[in-house]
Amino acid sequence: MQNFNLEDITPEELFNARRHFLKLGAGALVSSSALTHLMAELPKQNALHYTPSTNPDKLILNTEEQATNYVNFYEFSTDKVAPVKMSQKMKTSPWSLGFFGEIKTEQMVEVDELIAKFGLEERIYRFRCVEGWSMVVPWIGFPLYKLLDYLEPNSNAKYVKFTTRHEPAMFPDQAKGIFASIKHPYVEGLRMDEARHPLTFIAVGMYGKRLLPQNGAPMRLVVPWKYGFKSIKSLDLIECVTEEPRNTWQDQNPDEYGFYANVNPEVDHPRWTQAKERVLGKLFKQPTLKFNGYEKEVASLYAGMDLRKYF
Ligand code: MTE
Repeated sequence: MQNFNLEDITPEELFNARRHFLKLGAGALVSSSALTHLMAELPKQNALHYTPSTNPDKLILNTEEQATNYVNFYEFSTDKVAPVKMSQKMKTSPWSLGFFGEIKTEQMVEVDELIAKFGLEERIYRFRCVEGWSMVVPWIGFPLYKLLDYLEPNSNAKYVKFTTRHEPAMFPDQAKGIFASIKHPYVEGLRMDEARHPLTFIAVGMYGKRLLPQNGAPMRLVVPWKYGFKSIKSLDLIECVTEEPRNTWQDQNPDEYGFYANVNPEVDHPRWTQAKERVLGKLFKQPTLKFNGYEKEVASLYAGMDLRKYF
């Protein structure tokens, strides 16, 4: 188990540690080794040390309660609320990710090792589901380009393919075989330039803490200018590949979901308009923003492409 540095400990943890110590009757003199030992016993759950966001877009955050109690996680259920309870027994540590394909050295790396390698920062992003709801979430993680720089993709690597862990004992829908709600494991993909874009993020936490199971613990993708289904949860594999990967929803229904899935109020879903969205917790709808408000940053990635064709 990792040692904790004092500066890695949040005020909440320090408070709990102190309370624990007082309960033990430990007096005024606390040796540093005893403190290290105590800290090592604290739940790993809360040990996130990160650079806070300055919230440059002045976004109004949704509450943690909203963002963690209304989810899409088909590995558990198609229901929005059921996965919250159903996922609590997920064992998310230890958890290694596999890195394969057109990279310098194929390897498996433990989540905490990735965190130590790349450091953590907070990103406050809009998040827009293709179903028409949206939220603003303070994610904690690191930009995907840092990981790609480390993996050193070769010149054959044109796309990045992401796969959710396939473990039917943990994910009940995966155990249903042909009766599963979707084809498992869940797969997503990005073009290499999209994957390397500074906004593309790998999240390990939100609201100052580790991701809760229902939000895709221990590590997920967040691509803020694309519909939420691109933001694949509970990552198992990241592969650099030559061909465009076929993603889960495109595979389920190619007439309704494409590879790009850029948020676009001008291109409706065949069964509903995308012109407006409802922020979780709000009564009235608001206009959908092109590229979910990140047009200035990402529009150049799609210069010359017909966004109706590449939806
Ligand atoms: N990833 C996996 N593995 N399984 C899923 O069902 N749902 C997607 C995406 N990632 C999903 C997934 C969809 S449709 C959305 S909108 C977002 O996760 C929802 O993320 P949230 O539940 O944290 O809000």
